[in-house]
Amino acid sequence: KQDDDQLIIDAGQKQFGATTCSSCGMVYSLDNPEDNFQHNQFHQRFLESIKFVGWKKERVVAEFWDGKILLVLPDDPKYAVKKADDVRRVADNELGFQQMTLSRPAQAKTYLFINSERMVVGCLVSEPIRQAYRVLEQPDHPKDMTKDDFMERHRAWCCSVIPEQALCGISRIWVFSLSRRQGIATRMLDTVRSTFVYGSHLTKQEVAFSDPTPDGKQFATKYSNT
Ligand code: ACO
Ligand code: ZN
Repeated sequence: KQDDDQLIIDAGQKQFGATTCSSCGMVYSLDNPEDNFQHNQFHQRFLESIKFVGWKKERVVAEFWDGKILLVLPDDPKYAVKKADDVRRVADNELGFQQMTLSRPAQAKTYLFINSERMVVGCLVSEPIRQAYRVLEQPDHPKDMTKDDFMERHRAWCCSVIPEQALCGISRIWVFSLSRRQGIATRMLDTVRSTFVYGSHLTKQEVAFSDPTPDGKQFATKYSNT
């Protein structure tokens, strides 16, 4: 209800510009009927997908003041596996991944970050791996050169040809657009490192990201160096 009112007020102010829906995070143009239609289509389905009603059995692997992280395994009750699938689909959709299947679904461990408003705002899918190829650091361009930031971030990544040992592969990591830069991805990864292999704590080097997006690369670079 509140959000609907807010949208109507915004309509007057931002008639000709892009607006961000304060509940689903979609950016669209209010005065464009096609955009409005797409937003209507997306809004309900998205919020339904990330809604978390609470489960009889929850495998809580971390707790914070602003939420908690649940681990979902392939043999868990249907409702849990379905929610993990729904959220992964939302993430895949945003990442532009076409194929919905995981390489080894039976081995996948899905971590879900539930916030205090009972929404799944983070999803991380991890799988056991043996080796990975390190993404090589590109030489830094001086920031003041005003080189197009887009180009800067979309350069092809250069990978080493020497495989290195890794134990845990991150095949997906996604955080709800309105909940980013609050350390949710960082906390999910820290939790993976301490729970992925029972009784041991993985180093940052033992965790590898598969095919990172520009956002993923920025995050992974920052995470590995801190
Ligand atoms: N640009 C620059 N730096 C970034 C970015 C970014 N987009 N995202 C994170 N960082 C860096 C920052 O230094 C940040 O610390 P700061 O906020 O104090 O400056 C640090 O990483 C930690 O970031 P978190 O808050 O823990 O990351 P967040 O919860 O925002 O999630 C994520 C990052 C998952 C990449 C998110 O932006 C996202 O979901 N993006 C869209 C989906 C995507 O591209 N996922 C990666 C796909 S690759 C893969 O799945 C293997
Ligand atoms: Zn919306």
